[in-house]
Amino acid sequence: MPSLNVAHVILWLTMIFSPCFSVTIDREGLPDTGLSTASWVSGTLPPLNSMWELNDFQIAAKNTLAARWYGTTASLDQVTYQANMNIWTKIRLNGYTFRDVSDVNLHTTILGYNFTVPFFIAPAAYAGHTSNSAELSLARAAGKIGALYVPSIDSTKTIEEIAEAGLANQVMFHQEYVWSNRTLLRDDLRRIEDAGYKAIFLTVDNTGVNGIRIQAMRETGSLDSDSGHDASFSAAALSDIQKLTSLPIVPKGIKTAADAKTCLDLGFKAIYVSNHGGRVLDNAPTAVEVLLDIHRQYPEVFEKMEVYADGGVRNANHIITLLALGARAVGLGRSPMYANIYGEDGVNRMFTLLRAELESSLKLLGEANIHQLRGDTSYVNTKQVELEYFGRD
Ligand SMILES: Cc1cc2nc3c(=O)[nH]c(=O)nc-3n(C[C@H](O)[C@H](O)[C@H](O)COP(=O)(O)O)c2cc1C
Repeated sequence: MPSLNVAHVILWLTMIFSPCFSVTIDREGLPDTGLSTASWVSGTLPPLNSMWELNDFQIAAKNTLAARWYGTTASLDQVTYQANMNIWTKIRLNGYTFRDVSDVNLHTTILGYNFTVPFFIAPAAYAGHTSNSAELSLARAAGKIGALYVPSIDSTKTIEEIAEAGLANQVMFHQEYVWSNRTLLRDDLRRIEDAGYKAIFLTVDNTGVNGIRIQAMRETGSLDSDSGHDASFSAAALSDIQKLTSLPIVPKGIKTAADAKTCLDLGFKAIYVSNHGGRVLDNAPTAVEVLLDIHRQYPEVFEKMEVYADGGVRNANHIITLLALGARAVGLGRSPMYANIYGEDGVNRMFTLLRAELESSLKLLGEANIHQLRGDTSYVNTKQVELEYFGRD
C-alpha cells in the first residue's frame, strides 16, 4: 500500500468535506457578474471585501438571513417585482464624448435640504431584522455619506432611537402609514415632528390591505392581509392629514399619472412614484413607465413639484435613467437592507460602490453635473418601453 503524505491527506479531507461548506445560491435571475459563492459557508457572512455591486449584497443576504427576513417577497406572481428589475434592459443611455467632465457634482436638494448624493434609503419595514444594529446603522451610514434616510414606521427601533443615532445636524425624513386609528396617526406625526425629522413620506398605496405576498405567507403560515390602514382613504382625507402636521407630507406610492396630478392639484410640494418594490398591486407599472406617462399627460407636474422614484434600482445607470426622466432623487429599498447584514460597514461600502458607479457613468455619459442631467430626456432613449407601454398611437 502506498504511503500517505500530508498533501494526500489534505486532498482527501477536502474532497470529503468540501460539499458541506461550498454553497450554490439561486441568483433569481440577477445579472451574473462573476461573484463566486464556492467558498461561502451557508448561514455565515461572506467577506465584505468580496462585495462589488449591489446585487452581491442580495446574494450574501440570501446566504445569511432566515428566509422570513430575506425580503424579496413581492405580491402574487411578482410580475411587477420582475418588471422593476428588468425594465433597465430596455433603456439606452445616450453618451456624449466631446465634453469636459472633470468636475463631477452629485449634490442634490430634497425639499430644500442639502444631500451629497441623489439617492436615498427608502423606508423598509423589517430592515432592523437584518442586523444587530438594526436601523441605527442605516441612519449612521446615511449621515456619514450625506444621504437621506427615511425610516419605516414599522422599524424595529423607535422613531426617537433612530433620530438619536443620526449625526448632529443630519436631516432625516420619516415614513408613515394612513392608519385607520386616527389617534395613532396623530401621535406618530407628533412624535416624528418632536424627534426632529423634516418631512413625512406618507405611504398611500396599501390602504385597507397589504399586497398578498405568497412567499411571505408560506413563511408565516397566515393569510392575514389587514394592514391596519384606512380603506376609506380619499383625496380629501389626504389633505386633512396634511393639516395634522406642520411637516411637509409627500404621498408615497403614486403609480398613475392621474394620481400625480391629483397631488399637484391638492397643493403637495412633492410626490414619490413607487409600486412599493412590487409588494402591493401586482401588474402595476414600473417607475420608468409612470414617469413617461406623467410626461405625456401632465408635464407640469415636473415643473411644479419634486418627484422622487424607486423600484428595482440596483446600479448607477438606473438612477441616471430616473433622474433624466425628471426624478429629483431616487430611493433604494432592498439594497441597503441587504447591505446592513454587515452593519454600518456594509451600508458604507454599498454607498461607496454606488457613488463610484454614478461618478463613472456620468463621466462616460458626458454630463458630470447631476443638475444638468436631471429632467433632460436627451440622455435616455426609452422608445422600446414606450412602444410596449403606450402602443403605437
Ligand atoms: C421588506 C420591505 C419592506 C418595506 N416596507 C415599507 C414600509 O414600511 N413603508 C413603505 O412605504 N415602503 C416599504 N417598502 C417599499 C420601499 O420603500 C421601496 O418602495 C421599495 O423597496 C423599492 O424597491 P426596491 O426594493 O427594488 O429598491 C418595503 C420594501 C421591502 C422590500
